[in-house]
Amino acid sequence: MQDQSRYELHCGNAHEMLQQLASASVHTCVTSPPYWNQRKYAGESVLGNEATAEQYVENMCNIFDEVWRVLVPEGSLWLNIGDTYKNKNLIGIPWRVVFALQERGWILRNAVIWDKQKGNPDNAKDKLRNVYEHVFHVVKQEQYCYNLDSVRNPPLKPSFRNGKIVTPTGVSGDKYRQQIAASNDLSTEEKANALAALKAALHNVEIGEMPDFRMIIRGTQRSTHSDSPEFSGRADELRKKGFCILPYHKNGTKPSDIWRVIPEDSWRKDTHFAVYPTELCEIPIKTTCPPNGIVLDPFVGSGTTVIAALELGRRAIGIDASAEYLASAKERIEMWLAGNTTDQSQLSLYTVGEVA
Ligand SMILES: C[S@@+](CC[C@H](N)C(=O)[O-])C[C@H]1O[C@@H](n2cnc3c(N)ncnc32)[C@H](O)[C@@H]1O
Repeated sequence: MQDQSRYELHCGNAHEMLQQLASASVHTCVTSPPYWNQRKYAGESVLGNEATAEQYVENMCNIFDEVWRVLVPEGSLWLNIGDTYKNKNLIGIPWRVVFALQERGWILRNAVIWDKQKGNPDNAKDKLRNVYEHVFHVVKQEQYCYNLDSVRNPPLKPSFRNGKIVTPTGVSGDKYRQQIAASNDLSTEEKANALAALKAALHNVEIGEMPDFRMIIRGTQRSTHSDSPEFSGRADELRKKGFCILPYHKNGTKPSDIWRVIPEDSWRKDTHFAVYPTELCEIPIKTTCPPNGIVLDPFVGSGTTVIAALELGRRAIGIDASAEYLASAKERIEMWLAGNTTDQSQLSLYTVGEVA
C-alpha cells in the first residue's frame, strides 16, 4: 500500500489480487465472502456458485491461504460467513470452512454469534427462524496482536441502598455475610477473615478502586473453573483461606461472543444487498489492528470494512470482483471522507484495476 494513501480499492478476482499484495503487509483481515448457493453473483470468477459445498470450501481455503501470506505473523482474520439449506438440509458451511482452515494451520480463537435480531422473511412451517450468523476469529500463531482494553464495557457505577454501598451487579454483602455466618466449613478465624475481606472489597468499590466483585466461600459456592486445587489457583486459595474475592477488571468487563447488531439495510439495496454493518467490524479492528495499521477486505462489496477502518483511524485495502459494487463503494467512502476529513491531502484515493 502506498505510504500516503488511507485506502485502496482493487477490482478483480480476490485470489489474483491478493497475489499482488506484499507478504506480511496487512494487520487484520475482516471479510464476508459470498455465501454458498444462496444468491447468484454475476461474473465468471465469482465465488458462491460452486456445484458442491466441498468445492466452495476448497475455494475459500485457497483465498485464505493468500490472506495468511499477506498478514503479519501476529495478524488476525475475522470471517463472517452464513449457512445454507440444500434440499431442506442445513449444510453447516461456516463450520466446514473453519475446520478446513484449522487443517491449514489457522488457530480458531472465537466463534462469535452475530445475533441479527431480525431474520429474513421465512414462510417455512416446519422450522424456526434463522437469525444468527457466525463471525470467526482465526490467527496464524499463538501470540498475536490483541488490545482487549480497547473494547471493554466501561464499568458501571455502584449505588447506595439505605446508606449502604451496592455494586453495579447488586452485591450489597448481605447474602455473603449470612453465608459466612451459617457456614459449617469455616473456622471462627476464617469467618472473621472472610468478613474483613468482604468489608474491604465493598470499601474498594465505594472509593472506585474495584468496579465490582464476587465472593466464593468454601462449601457454599464452587470455584468457577475447577474444584481441584491441582487445576485451579482459586480452588487452592479456597482450601487454604476458606474464601476468595474475585474482583472485576478495573477497566470493565470483556464483551461476550454474542454480538447483537441489527443488519444494515439502508445502503443502496439496488446495487448491493449483502451488506454488513460497520458496527460488526468494530471489535475486530479495535482489538487486532494497531492504530494506523492496515485492514484488508478481499470481498469488500459496498465498502463497509473500509469505512469502519477509516472511522477507527486505520487504513484499508478493499478488493471485489464487481466493478459496479466497487463504484458504489468508492462513492460511499468518498462521501464519508468528505464529511469527516478536514485535511484535503487525506482524500487521496489510489485504485488499481477497472474501478468505474
Ligand atoms: C457478501 S458480499 C460482501 C459484502 C460486504 N461485506 C459489504 O458490507 O458490502 C460478497 C462480495 O464478494 C464479491 N465477490 C464474489 N466473488 C469474488 C471473487 N472471486 N473475488 C472478489 N470478490 C468476489 C461479490 O461481488 C460481493 O460484493
